[in-house]
Amino acid sequence: GKGSYRHFMQKEIFEQPVVIGDTLQSYVDPLSRRVTLPEMPFDFAQIPRLTASACGTAYYAGLIGKYWFEQMARLPMDIDIASEFRYREAPLPENGAALFISQSGETIDTLSALRYTRQEKQHILSIVNQPESAIARESDVALQTLAGPEIGVASTKAFTTQLVVLACLALAAGRARGSLSSEREAELTSALIEVPAQASYFLEREAQLIDIANEMADASDILYMGRGSMYPLALEGALKFKEISYLHAEGYAAGELKHGAMALIDEHVPIVVCAPSGPLFDKTAGNIQEVIARGGRVVLISDSQGIEAIGEGVTHAVEVPEVSPFVAPILYALPLQLLAYHTASIKGTDVDQPRNLAKSVTVE
Ligand code: M6R
Repeated sequence: GKGSYRHFMQKEIFEQPVVIGDTLQSYVDPLSRRVTLPEMPFDFAQIPRLTASACGTAYYAGLIGKYWFEQMARLPMDIDIASEFRYREAPLPENGAALFISQSGETIDTLSALRYTRQEKQHILSIVNQPESAIARESDVALQTLAGPEIGVASTKAFTTQLVVLACLALAAGRARGSLSSEREAELTSALIEVPAQASYFLEREAQLIDIANEMADASDILYMGRGSMYPLALEGALKFKEISYLHAEGYAAGELKHGAMALIDEHVPIVVCAPSGPLFDKTAGNIQEVIARGGRVVLISDSQGIEAIGEGVTHAVEVPEVSPFVAPILYALPLQLLAYHTASIKGTDVDQPRNLAKSVTVE
């Protein structure tokens, strides 16, 4: 049941510190601070490319994974929406590996994409929450996310646990390919191990999102922006928001705003910016100043250092614990989920069962 929560989605948001911890426990050895994966059907050092597909939120998880695989493992990764990939007849490399991400493991487009890569003789790896599912069964190796049953149609804990598995995979690939020293692996693994505590700390400060949600509920368009791995997270934030609040939201890469969407900015369009301090912060800060100069209402999600650096001008600032940029997408998912959740509950929509949507999309 829902226990003391009003909705399954809310319960599932609050379960994240635990399920992220459970998932980490199966893929990380806390003593050596090394990633431990099951036996793989291929060697990461030998594959020329990783070809991934998924749908919806699982696709955005994969898009974040692409930043990790390319940066840390120097492994080229292509990722596409499964409904496009399955019909595109993409040429795939010899000895390549394919990766599928799915909470249910039953999404028809993702399964069909998997079958295409099987025909093309790729090694098949999947990340699934349901180990008995079709996608798990048809994979060479299925890595499980230990999110437990996810009831709310809007995916929350499945997403953050998918990110955890992708992060571990990228670290393992980095080690195998010789692009990640053991010191660096230990450092990044430690950053992952700290996420559950940081997530609980943040969730205890949930109240800061409610005022913002009240304002959001009155808007008709909302933009989300981020740079680097915060860009796919912005896409995910916008999806979560529209799915349950029935308001229009769109995610943008921060640097892309001036190529079109900046024309939308005025005092009626709130823009949610995910900008953790780190190497990309100053670039995004520049984009924030441009938005402010055009009268835009900025909801900044950052750590204390980032919030201080931006100073006056933002309409709201949501403070998240300071973390390594590597794990930031996992932690920054939480404020986005809460923003969507509270806006939807203020609007009184059917949060767990939004209109026109199904939990698992098994028909095209
Ligand atoms: O079960 P899957 O992970 O394959 O589902 C993929 C999408 O249908 C799913 O993530 C969908 O986008 C969610 N409702 C988003 O919250």
